This record gives sequence, structure tokens and C-alpha cells, in this order.
Amino acid sequence: MDYFALQNGELYAEDVPLSRIAGEVGTPVYVYSAATLRRHARVFREGLAAVPRVHCAFAIKANPNLAVLRVLAQEGFGADVVSVGEMKRALASGMAAKDIVFSGVGKSRAELAAALDAGIGQFNLELEEEGVVLAQLAAERGMTAPAVLRVNPDVDAGTHEKISTGKAENKFGLPIDQAPEIFARLAKLPGLNLRGVAVHIGSQLTSLDPLEAAFNRIGALVRELRAAGHAVTHVDLGGGLGVPYRPGEEPPSPADFGAMVARVTKDWDVALMFEPGRVIAANAGVFMTQVLWVKPGVTHPWVIVDGAMNDLARVAMYDAYHAVEAVRPSGEMITANVAGPVCESSDVFAKARKIDTVKTGDLIVLRSAGAYGATMASTYNSRPLVPEVLVEGANYAVVAGRIAAETIMSEENVPDWLK
Ligand code: LLP
Repeated sequence: MDYFALQNGELYAEDVPLSRIAGEVGTPVYVYSAATLRRHARVFREGLAAVPRVHCAFAIKANPNLAVLRVLAQEGFGADVVSVGEMKRALASGMAAKDIVFSGVGKSRAELAAALDAGIGQFNLELEEEGVVLAQLAAERGMTAPAVLRVNPDVDAGTHEKISTGKAENKFGLPIDQAPEIFARLAKLPGLNLRGVAVHIGSQLTSLDPLEAAFNRIGALVRELRAAGHAVTHVDLGGGLGVPYRPGEEPPSPADFGAMVARVTKDWDVALMFEPGRVIAANAGVFMTQVLWVKPGVTHPWVIVDGAMNDLARVAMYDAYHAVEAVRPSGEMITANVAGPVCESSDVFAKARKIDTVKTGDLIVLRSAGAYGATMASTYNSRPLVPEVLVEGANYAVVAGRIAAETIMSEENVPDWLK
């Protein structure tokens, strides 16, 4: 459920017509709905109402915009971060350091030190050596670093291979069968409070079965660790819940997910942590773009828009589907291709798609673009970095400006010997 809907024949974000935003801010542009973010945050938490101790950390890689994070901080979410840059954003948005979890397969020593100095709540360790280094850095500071071991449960998440993380051949986590011995060695280190385990098997999961299989393996590991005398107080169950991208798609709801979690973890007696990203943000955002040309094509016309793969990379990268809607639907449908101006054949948002007829100057949106949208944008083809707008009720504000080619060039340098 989201708050993008037609009113008087025109698409609105909450109480704001999208055409007004296009007129004032220009296109392409991302538009987010705060009410939708809040609703998703609440629905996720309510789904877990039967679980006694829950910590929700928004995976801010999905949408690191400061205003978006501020909304989620107000909803009581902390952050799952994978770099010091993301940590700085979480802190700047008003999230408490203790509510920040640091994940990621390649944290540098400098990043570990910076996160210790900031006093973050938990480190999710990916390998034994990382734990040794973290323990040392913490001991040097007279600190004890709260940490869990991220394990790879070798479960097929059944999602696109580029966003699958829990199979043995993926780079993430340490093999679950080695976890007990590594846990035992790291638990002895002064400087480390090794208090549990973490798992995350992939993103855009459309079935709960692989999650349940992974969580059952984690439950068995928790029992094994306890039997070996370790205190296990925290388990991080990651993110991964899928969202509907296509009309009619119905992935498991947060309520279904919560019921499964409550059943599987009922005798674990731990604080459970979650790192949802997409399920909170994806359908809280649209990517709005304007039609530049309608170019005749051999099979279907090409609707050439001013947004491109550098602004929204998901289609080119994962063959992802984003629904295409006209901001002022004509009611007459055509079958067309929708493509951006970038000089790559993969810069195509939709192929042979039934859409409303459009002409030069019309606005269209790509739906479900609030997660892994703007954050993955680049300036390829020297296009400006795409701006972002947040709507709440009748209010809206530019929450990230369009970064112009001149600004980007100002960071570049032609050395003296070339002048
Ligand atoms: N926790 C960890 C450790 C992760 O690696 C991720 C996502 C999440 C949580 C959040 O997962 P979510 O709830 O959003 O599924 N760019 C890709 C998605 C990459 C996901 C990476 N990790 C896309 O556009 O589909």
C-alpha cells in the first residue's frame, strides 16, 4: 500500500500533484512519500508484534537520503550500515549510535576504528581475522566491541543471482559449519563481546521458505553454541523481504513474515534484530521522467525519456521490472519500448510494454523506485546527479539537489604539465 494515486485524472504523491514537482524541480527526479515510509515502518514492526525483543535497523544502502532516514528515525528505526559514509548519514539523521549495526564483507581497519569511536551498537563480523583486528582496536581504546558472527547458511534464496548472498559460493558470511570453532576462539578475546550470530541470504525474496530454512539452521547453531557454554543474547535475521513490482504480484507480507519468525524463534530467548531495506522504501518512491521524443521503431515505438540507466540502474543491472505509468493517463494504450538517452543498449526501462499513449513533454513515472534507486545513480555520460524530493501531506521539499556537470568537473584537475 502506498500514497501515490490518481486524483482528478492526475497522479499525486500524497496531496501534491507530481506535475507540480516536475514544473518546479525539473526531471528526471525521484519523489518519495513520507506517509508511505511511515506506514511501511509501522507495518513491519506490527508484523513482529508477537516477538518479545525486536530491534529494527533500516538497511540504509536501500535509500540513504538524510530526510528519508530522519523519517525512519522518527519511527524508531536504527540503521544497518555498510560503510563509514552510511554510518555518518545515520548519525546525521538523528539515529542513536547504539542503534547502528555495521555489516559488510570489507570493512577497512580505519572504518572499524571510526565505528568504535562513534560507539555503534553492533559489528557483524564476516571472518575470524576481522574479529581479531576489531578486538585489538577495541582493547587499545579500553573498549569492548559488541559483535556477532555473520554465518552463511548455504541456502538458495530463490532470487536474482546478483542479489543472492546466502549460498556457500557467495562471498558473504562464514561457513556455518565452521562457526562454532571460530566463535569459541573469538569469544575468548578481550575487547570483544561476541554475543550472537547474524544471517542475510538475499534480497527481493518472494517466498518465506528459504528464510525459514536459514533461520532453522541459525536456531540449531544457537543451541550448539549454548551447549558449548557460550552466552547467545542477540540474533540478527537480516533483511530480504520482497515487494510487489508487477501488478498482481503478492510476495509474503510483513505479517506473514512476522508469524513465521515468531514460530521459528519462539524458544530462542534472544533479542532479534532485522535489517529491512526494500520492503520499507521501494514502494515509497517513484522515478519521474519526461518524454523527449517518440521515435518510430521496427517493432514498437521508442518512448525516449530524459531519465536513464545512470539515474535508475536496476533494469540494466538485474533486468528488474518497474511499472510505467503516465502522470496524466490518456486512457488509450499502446505497446511501446521506454528508453533513456544513455549510449548503451541496456538503457531501456521497458520493452514491448503496454502503456498509456504519450507524446513529447508528457510525464511518466517508474514505480517502486524508492529502494536502490537514487542511491545507485551515477553521472555516466556526464549527466547531472538526479535530485530527490520528499512529500509529506501537502508539503514537499527538495531533499537532494541536482548536482550539475560543472560541480562535478570542479573536483577534477588537469595537471600543469598538460596546460
Ligand atoms: N542486510 C544486509 C547484510 C544486506 O546485504 C542487505 C541488502 C540488506 C540487509 C537489505 O536487504 P533488503 O531488505 O533491502 O532486501 N541493489 C539490489 C539489492 C542489493 C541488496 C544488497 N543487500 C537491487 O536493486 O535489487
